[in-house]
Amino acid sequence: MTHGSQGSSVARFPFPDRPRLWGAAVSHYQVEGGDECDWSDWERRGLTRGGACGAAVDSWSRYEEDAALARAAGANAFRFSISWSRVEPFPGVFDDHALARYARLVDRLLALDLEPVATLFHYTHPLWFHRVSPWTSTDSVKRFSRFTRAVVGALGDRVRFWIPLNEPLVFVLAGYYDGQIPPGLSDGRSAARAFDHLLAAHAEAAAIIREVNPQAAIGVAHNMMAFAPERPRHWLDRLLVRATHHCYNRATVEAFATGRWDFRLPPATRLRGRRDDLPQSLDVFGVNFYSRLHLRCPGRARLVGDFTYRDASGRGFTDNGWEIAAPSLAPLLRDASRGGFPVVVTENGLADTADRLRGPFIEEHMAAIAASGVDVHGYFHWSLLDNYEWLDGFGPKFGLYEVDRATMERRARPSVEAFRRAGEQFTRNPLENARRLTGCT
Ligand code: FCB
Repeated sequence: MTHGSQGSSVARFPFPDRPRLWGAAVSHYQVEGGDECDWSDWERRGLTRGGACGAAVDSWSRYEEDAALARAAGANAFRFSISWSRVEPFPGVFDDHALARYARLVDRLLALDLEPVATLFHYTHPLWFHRVSPWTSTDSVKRFSRFTRAVVGALGDRVRFWIPLNEPLVFVLAGYYDGQIPPGLSDGRSAARAFDHLLAAHAEAAAIIREVNPQAAIGVAHNMMAFAPERPRHWLDRLLVRATHHCYNRATVEAFATGRWDFRLPPATRLRGRRDDLPQSLDVFGVNFYSRLHLRCPGRARLVGDFTYRDASGRGFTDNGWEIAAPSLAPLLRDASRGGFPVVVTENGLADTADRLRGPFIEEHMAAIAASGVDVHGYFHWSLLDNYEWLDGFGPKFGLYEVDRATMERRARPSVEAFRRAGEQFTRNPLENARRLTGCT
C-alpha cells in the first residue's frame, strides 16, 4: 500500500522538536460536564444503561488544573476533543465563548509545554444534527466543515496535531448499524453512507486545517481489537477471526492508504467506496487499543459470531471484564504501519479502581510497542481522569487520577509514577536508546 503525503516536501510529522509524544487523552463529553447534545438527550430518554453524565468531572471549569496534572505526570502532550454542541448550539450559530474557552485550554497546554492534540469528533453531536444533516446526507460533510472552520479559526496555528475523527468505524457500527448509541439506527445502507460521509468529512477537515496551518499534522484515531478463535482448531472460528480482523482492523488502514475500502458486515451489508483525496489527507495513523476478543461461529445473535473476553494469558481482567492482552498490540501496530503513515497509539488504558494492574499494564504495552519493530511516535494513555464511560457511566475507573465526584477533587493514583517512568524511557532520544541497547558509546 502507498499513500500520498509521505513524498510531500513538508515533513509534518513527527515534529522535529518532539519526535515522540507522551501524553494522556480525554474527550469533551466524558469529562467536561453540562453539555447539551444528542448523547445527553439519549440519556434523558433512558436509552443508555450508563445513566446521566451530568457534571461529568467538571473539566469545563477545571481544565487548568487538569492540564497541570498531565504535566505533573510527566506528559509532553495532551489529547482532548472539542464539543461540537457547545461550539455550534444552533445550526450556523457559533458560540464565541465556547471557542474562547478551548483557546484558553490550548494556551494553558502550551504554557506547560504540552503539545495540544485536538480531536474534532468524539461521538457526540449538537441536538439539531441528526434532524438537519445526519451522516447519511451529504449535508453532514458541509456542516462538519463549517464547524471545523470555526474551531481552526479560533485555535489557529497553535495546534499542530489535529484528529478530525475518533473511531469512525466504531461510531458507524454502534450508531448506524447496531443502534446502541445516537442516532440509534440499525440499517446497513445507512451505515455504508455514514461511513462514506465521515471519511469525506475527514478529508475536507484536513484541507481546511492545512489552509490555516500548512505544517499541521492530521491524524485519525482508529480502534483496533485483537481477535482469536474461541476454538483454535475450528476452521469456522478461524475464518471468522480472519474476516473480522479484515473488516474491523485492516479495512480502515487500507481506506486511508489507498483511498478505497470494501468490506462486509454480517449478515449482508457491504461497505464499499472510493475517495481519491483520502491518502493525501492523512499524516499520522492513530491506534486506539484496549483488548482482545475470542470469536465463535455461528452466533446466536443477529451478528454471525459470538464473542467473549477470556483471560487466556493469565494477565487478568480489567474491572469491566476486558482481557489484558498487551502482546497483541505488536501485530496490530504492524498492521497499522502497513498503511505507510507514522503510527501513534492515540488511546490505551484500563478500568482498574484498585490500581493494581495499571502500572504493569503500561509497562507491558510499552514492551509490546518495542517488540513490534514499528517506530511508534507517540503514546496517549486513556485516561488522565476517571470519567464518564459511554455505555457504563461512572462505573469503570480509567484515570491515572481518581476523581471524587462529590467534591471533584483529583488524586493521583500510585501508577502515575509508572506512567512517568515509562514516558521518560519512551521519549528519550532514540539515538541514545539505540546506543544503550547496542552498548556503543
Ligand atoms: C474508546 C473511546 C473512548 C473511551 C475508551 C474506553 O473506544 O474512544 O472514548 O470510551 O474507549
